[in-house]
Amino acid sequence: MRTFLIVSLFFSLVTAPSLHAEVHRELHRKLEQRLDLMNLQKDTMDFLNNMATGRVAFNPKQVRNARRILITTTKKIPKRFRKEVTGLQSHAAPSIWYSRRDFEQRAENATAAAKAISSRSLEKFRPSLNRMVNTCIACHQTYRLRANEFKTH
Ligand code: HEC
Repeated sequence: MRTFLIVSLFFSLVTAPSLHAEVHRELHRKLEQRLDLMNLQKDTMDFLNNMATGRVAFNPKQVRNARRILITTTKKIPKRFRKEVTGLQSHAAPSIWYSRRDFEQRAENATAAAKAISSRSLEKFRPSLNRMVNTCIACHQTYRLRANEFKTH
């Protein structure tokens, strides 16, 4: 019995820290995937914004490619936030995990706006891109903590 206790104690001491590290790595990976998704959306929006402002020539094919990316990424938002993962690099508001329906509704609004991005003409494209940006902002205002709010409550 004593030997058993000592042996099991030994194993729990050896395995506990590595299990902890494993869980930590998994959470870190989830957070990274979530931020990667958001940053891909930002790069895509920057690209489209350059077209809307005339820094880059309007190109319907590139608009359609970017639209496809945004439809895919916005659809993934609920999945990427399914697990409650926060961390030092995270500005996710805790309310995401008790206002799931509202959070997911905002993701759906973003997908609807992505689908409606127009590649027909620059005149149609500009307002459709505005609508897209507004859905990003609408979600961030409620569920993304700004840097200066971080860790203040
Ligand atoms: C349904 C809600 C929602 C929508 C829609 C949304 N975001 Fe986010 N976004 C968030 C949340 C929440 C965070 C904070 C995540 C974190 O820090 O863990 C975030 C973070 C970000 C970040 C910061 C990433 C980092 O590395 O810190 C960028 C950039 C971003 N979003 C861009 C966009 C763009 C562009 C769109 C629109 C195309 C968009 N988001 C749409 C909820 C949303």
